[in-house]
Amino acid sequence: MRTKPQPTPAPLHSVTHARRSRAASRALMGEDPALRAGYRLCRRITRQHDPAIYALVQLMPAVLRPACWALWAAVTVLDDLADTPDTEPAQRAARVEAWTRALKQDLTAGTSTDPVRYAVVDTAGRWRLDLSDLQGAMARTREDALGLRFTDWAAWRAWCNEEIVPWGDQARQLLERAGAPMTLRLDRHADYEQFMDGTQLINMLTDLSTDLAQGHMLLPQEALEPFPGAEADLTQGRWSPAVAALIAELTALARRRVTRPAMTRGMHPGPANVLDTAADLMRLQLDAIEAAGPTLLTRPPRPSVAAHTRVLLPARLRSALAWSLTPLTVPGPRPPAVGVGDPGPATHDTGLRPPPPHPDGVRPPRIAADRMPSHVAVIMDGNGRWAEQRGLPRHEGHRAGTAALHEMVYGALEIGLRHLTLYTFSTENWKRGTEEITTILETVRHELDEGPFRDLDVRQRWSGRPDKLPEDLVHALRREQQRTRTRTGLTLTVCINYGGRDEITRTAAALAQAAREGEVDPHLLGEDDFARHLPYPDMPDVDLLWRTGNEQRTSNFLPWHATYAELHFTPGYWPDNDRRDLWQAITEYGRRQRRHGAVPAPLASPEKHRPSPDVPARPACPRH
Ligand code: IPE
Ligand code: IPE
Ligand code: MG
Repeated sequence: MRTKPQPTPAPLHSVTHARRSRAASRALMGEDPALRAGYRLCRRITRQHDPAIYALVQLMPAVLRPACWALWAAVTVLDDLADTPDTEPAQRAARVEAWTRALKQDLTAGTSTDPVRYAVVDTAGRWRLDLSDLQGAMARTREDALGLRFTDWAAWRAWCNEEIVPWGDQARQLLERAGAPMTLRLDRHADYEQFMDGTQLINMLTDLSTDLAQGHMLLPQEALEPFPGAEADLTQGRWSPAVAALIAELTALARRRVTRPAMTRGMHPGPANVLDTAADLMRLQLDAIEAAGPTLLTRPPRPSVAAHTRVLLPARLRSALAWSLTPLTVPGPRPPAVGVGDPGPATHDTGLRPPPPHPDGVRPPRIAADRMPSHVAVIMDGNGRWAEQRGLPRHEGHRAGTAALHEMVYGALEIGLRHLTLYTFSTENWKRGTEEITTILETVRHELDEGPFRDLDVRQRWSGRPDKLPEDLVHALRREQQRTRTRTGLTLTVCINYGGRDEITRTAAALAQAAREGEVDPHLLGEDDFARHLPYPDMPDVDLLWRTGNEQRTSNFLPWHATYAELHFTPGYWPDNDRRDLWQAITEYGRRQRRHGAVPAPLASPEKHRPSPDVPARPACPRH
């Protein structure tokens, strides 16, 4: 019963060489033919059922389009199950429920026999989407199957917010994961809400004939009451003066709601173009609704192809320009399971290998896609005490710590973690003795020379200040970053001569410079502007911050990114940890209920407490 946008855009396909497009499709949709077929089906469903949405998805970066098709196809399938004519309402509701339950099971299993759900499961895994937020929306769709009636605009709006908005939020999450967030300035949230209201109203007006034919009246009583007789005329399919006046009032209201020029001000140009074009398409649709007159009650109105092309052609050009200027974080296909003791074949096109298995043959736990953090940051503490405990000089602790670091990278690759950030040397660590500092930096240099991750799908980055560091070390760090920049597996950021306050200060300086050059207006600065001037704008927020070594503080580590991180403190010294401790930390994270300031959705909460599968047992790290 979700109403669908109806305008028909002219499909603007680009013609590419078949081979190149096959390679591109493999990169975007994975190697598995069943999965590619699933994504193709999702694209077809989106194009056929919702051409306007299809056109808007074409304005997203190419790497995000399959994910958008998958999500939209899921909405469409659920909607069709809820709407199937000639079926009893209870039966429709049961079908929606069965599909929702199957999706939940498939997400845990990491695969599906249903092509649409397989694409959704892959999308959730690749982009680390938290689909538990959709539980509430799917429950509302089930209720829709049983019939809907709204007394006032508030009830109507609450329904839109619960059933429709969470799907839109997934698209926003996708953009955020890719490093181009659709961040709204705080003072623009009301604009966005009005805009979403307006689009829903337009969709309802478009689908009026279909809904009335099925006996649904989705306009609230409050909207109908000022036009006596309009409801009765509508249900009997009569175009009366009361109906005409009601439609005129509602189209004017919808036009005001979707005309929000300030909404995208200061936003990244890519997402801003998607929203602005959506608004243009909505206004075209309103023109068609106004022009339809009595035929609004017999068929959904559609704007002309020429009008669509006038909106979409420049939008496609703006989109190409906006995304060509934006480096995006692109995940590869989900990592394949690795056989125990099997180093695995190098893949033909990349020459990359899977990580070596754990020496005891311990296999990684299966972490449900919606329980996987996007970004784990680790304060690797306790090297000095580990060495002192053994009567060794402190620097031996730093050397021993490198084995634990390798383990974490292998463990992260095995479970398909996207971002791992490791605190190696802080701006405060210069307070230590020269000998210790020299050993730490020499250990880093040695690691870079040895290249333990050379054949793995690891994109390496360095975060920190170059000053005070030996020049050859800075050079080697930058070289490694350059060499691995196109890898799509794990992004490993090592923080060396890093300080959180220093990062914030340098970002503020970059922003001040941008303001001086007239690129940003200081009065309109939002969090998004700040985030775009950080050293790595595509680094996602830290979901899980783990510190070893029995200390409970964050020691100037990632203050911007970790404001909402789940904290995990463990007593063992860093060199005593291995990949099982990372898996344990992530498994525990999966049991946490994250609210981000909101009240948990009642339907989602039992899920959130679901116990995750435990990590293979290991002897606990010694406590100190
Ligand atoms: C962490 O271990 C590594 C660095 C700070 C470089 P420590 O050296 O801080 O070890 P403890 O805390 O003194 O045991
Ligand atoms: C934090 O550890 C820095 C690194 C792990 C690189 P420290 O050992 O330096 O932190 P404090 O001094 O205990 O806060
Ligand atoms: Mg320490």
